[in-house]
Amino acid sequence: MGTKVGKSEEFPEGEVRVVEYEGRKVCIARVEGALYGVDNMCSHAEAYLSEGELYAEDLEIECPLHGSTFNLVDGEPQDLPASEPVRAYEVVEDSDEVEIVKQTNDA
Ligand code: FES
Repeated sequence: MGTKVGKSEEFPEGEVRVVEYEGRKVCIARVEGALYGVDNMCSHAEAYLSEGELYAEDLEIECPLHGSTFNLVDGEPQDLPASEPVRAYEVVEDSDEVEIVKQTNDA
């Protein structure tokens, strides 16, 4: 149903991995077993969220360039300077395969 982007073992708890999906780079984070996906490119300027800090307890990832954090569920920025969301994706696991199902917001 989704697009396969890797094996479950490639996405360890508390870590971020970058995959390709429909021509875009998507960063996928595993938090408490669940997988979350957002665009890797920040919505503010040219920086990769995968190179920033993952705040697992808040389900947020921080842009390494100017420090905006983005919610992993809906892609919304939580603070300035970013004001636009990044794309968020539904990510599932099926028989040890990780799949992106679809984009889940309007970014
Ligand atoms: S490039 Fe990400 S907050 Fe500026």
